[in-house]
Amino acid sequence: MWLWLFAPFLIRNVIAANFDPTEFFKTRCEPKCVFEASNLNSTNIDKFPKDCSTVCTDLAIDDKCDLTEEQLTATLQNMKHLVGSLIVISVKYTSVKFLAGLESVECGDLDFLIVLNNKMFEVGMTSLNTINCSSIAIDNNKEMTKLNVPNLKYMYPSEVNKTEIKVRIDGLSKKFCVTTEEMYNLMGVPNIDLDSLEGMHCEPATPLTNGKVCNSSYTLIYPTEILDGCTQYFGSLVINSENEKDVSKLKSVEAIFGPLFIEKTNLTSIDFLTNLKFISTLGYDTTAVQVINNPFLSNFSFPSLKNLMGRVVNRFK
Ligand SMILES: *[C@@H]1O[C@H](CO)[C@@H](O)[C@H](O)[C@H]1NC(C)=O
Ligand SMILES: *[C@@H]1O[C@H](CO)[C@@H](O)[C@H](O)[C@H]1NC(C)=O
Ligand SMILES: *[C@@H]1O[C@H](CO)[C@@H](O)[C@H](O)[C@H]1NC(C)=O
Ligand SMILES: *[C@@H]1O[C@H](CO)[C@@H](O)[C@H](O)[C@H]1NC(C)=O
Ligand SMILES: *[C@@H]1O[C@H](CO)[C@@H](O)[C@H](O)[C@H]1NC(C)=O
Ligand SMILES: *[C@@H]1O[C@H](CO)[C@@H](O)[C@H](O)[C@H]1NC(C)=O
Repeated sequence: MWLWLFAPFLIRNVIAANFDPTEFFKTRCEPKCVFEASNLNSTNIDKFPKDCSTVCTDLAIDDKCDLTEEQLTATLQNMKHLVGSLIVISVKYTSVKFLAGLESVECGDLDFLIVLNNKMFEVGMTSLNTINCSSIAIDNNKEMTKLNVPNLKYMYPSEVNKTEIKVRIDGLSKKFCVTTEEMYNLMGVPNIDLDSLEGMHCEPATPLTNGKVCNSSYTLIYPTEILDGCTQYFGSLVINSENEKDVSKLKSVEAIFGPLFIEKTNLTSIDFLTNLKFISTLGYDTTAVQVINNPFLSNFSFPSLKNLMGRVVNRFK
């Protein structure tokens, strides 16, 4: 277990055969914005380039860090872009809010890790919108109930010739949830591997400024009340003989935070979910898409679908 958890520290990613961190930093930061020491503490904090908005360093904050959250905030508040890895491990802090101003991380040959922090209840990096790292782990933070990274939308791999971005989010609190906004953003990242994600969608759904969330139930028993203009469904979208006449209203739906269940209809094709991009069944133990006992159905397509968490089942009878 320990060896496995520490593997990322021991095995550097294969960025290039001759990856040179000094060169990587040199091309991205002025010399005064490079921080050489990595494990931040009271001895070296005065050397941190606190006025630079782009800082080059492999930043590590661990159990030996003797600084208060206020000191960390004061030192790190102007850093908007971190070039290098971020490792927050076994700290006493309740969040990573001291990096609330950070907008992007561009890893070199190491990873983005927030692990083994027993007091941390959220990440709280509220400005973070880009992580260019092939491996991202937020795991084994036992008290963590939420991420609070509402703006994280862009991720690209740091490893050369790799397309996949491995995101490990597990070993958190039993109450851990991901907001629908965070889930929507994560599902929009091409080549993201979210297989390890455990938890639920936070309730209620995040309100939309550009769209309308419609609530539905957690079960597959009752037909969903299909309203006009819904762009997201929070809960299961259940279509059966009672509401099949309304399916044309589903053209506006872009995301379903729950399973899609189509059963016992006379529908001949499923061509009304033309704008559906994402289905997330986080926290559900049912299949993401189930199409069952629709005798006249001959064609179905989800032309806009980009990401789906869960399996698809189609049973004709
Ligand atoms: C990446 O792919 C290119 C072209 O296939 C190849 O020449 C190069 O050696 C690869 N680099 C690494 C680090 O694998
Ligand atoms: C800070 O870290 C450096 C390098 O790991 C170490 O030499 C120094 O003793 C540490 N200072 C404190 C106060 O722990
Ligand atoms: C992240 O990678 C993308 C794609 O290579 C690039 O366009 C973007 O500028 C990078 N951002 C940062 C902060 O490194
Ligand atoms: C959906 O349900 C939640 C919680 O039950 C409620 O706060 C929210 O207002 C509902 N939204 C709509 C559009 O009905
Ligand atoms: C479906 O078709 C059957 C017979 O083909 C018919 O009895 C039933 O009323 C139809 N249901 C709906 C909802 O149109
Ligand atoms: C299935 O539906 C799609 C989208 O509506 C359409 O482009 C395609 O031609 C249909 N295929 C068949 C066999 O009907």
